[in-house]
Amino acid sequence: MSIDFKAMDKIAEGKTKIIYRNPENEKTVYMVFKDDITAGDGVKHDVIPGKALIDWKTNRDTFELLNRKGVRTHYISSPEEKVALVRKLDRKINLEVVSRRVAAGSILKWSNTVEGQRYDPVITQFHYKDDPLHDPMLDDTYIDYIIKAKSASEYAVMKRINEQAFGYLEVAFANFDIQLIDIKLEYGIIDGEVYLIDEISGGSFRLWPYAHKNPNLNQDNVLGELNPEARLDKDTYRMGQSTDMVKNKFAEIANITAGFKDID
Ligand SMILES: Nc1ncnc2c1ncn2[C@@H]1O[C@H](COP(=O)(O)OP(=O)(O)OP(=O)(O)O)[C@@H](O)[C@H]1O
Ligand SMILES: [Mg+2]
Repeated sequence: MSIDFKAMDKIAEGKTKIIYRNPENEKTVYMVFKDDITAGDGVKHDVIPGKALIDWKTNRDTFELLNRKGVRTHYISSPEEKVALVRKLDRKINLEVVSRRVAAGSILKWSNTVEGQRYDPVITQFHYKDDPLHDPMLDDTYIDYIIKAKSASEYAVMKRINEQAFGYLEVAFANFDIQLIDIKLEYGIIDGEVYLIDEISGGSFRLWPYAHKNPNLNQDNVLGELNPEARLDKDTYRMGQSTDMVKNKFAEIANITAGFKDID
């Protein structure tokens, strides 16, 4: 029997998901995926029929991998198509936490970084979530200062979980000859602890296939080892490819993450 959302309380509706109260358990909520896709902090918007189902699969298979690895996430299960059951947030943290292995995207515009530069260890930055302000980045030295001087331990925990999640997903995608370039994740407080929340789907990361077998990824710049033209992620949409093409790429991601089930 399917869940009757019409009879349920809608707690929140965002750009890509609707959150419903679970009448059977106040500690959990249902997250229902939508077909909408947005970019440019919500300025560009389309509806791609079938995207919700694709993103739901990617979300399920990535979160289930992270849960198996022992990462602290809100994800519980995916009771039916397009629906995830998650632990209910007590408090949302209004940050996006970005970890990068390879320089791409916005970082190239505001720094002198060259595309393809490799970071080892990965770098992690916090962005204040606010569309009209274009998600401004918080200063690293200030974050380090408040962790040390003000015991603002949440930042250290978010950084740790983000890098842990990045590491597991990077290894998982490598099985399919794909480099995880960067990832953007969100956090909240549940029962007094920091949890990885929200969704992980085609808009959460950059994925570039290897340019050839056995790439040498241990060098300062790995652009020549990778094939950004064949990218699978939301940059296809940002760069103006057709919604059909974007949907095909997102479906490719879901096909790959389906293989995560075989990773312990
Ligand atoms: N575990 C959770 N419990 C309750 N609410 C959650 C949970 N995880 C995510 N949410 C909320 O789901 C809402 C809808 O998500 P969606 O991503 O569609 O919003 P959005 O328009 O992208 O806005 P945002 O910029 O906050 O992500 C967000 O307000 C988010 O905080
Ligand atoms: Mg969102």
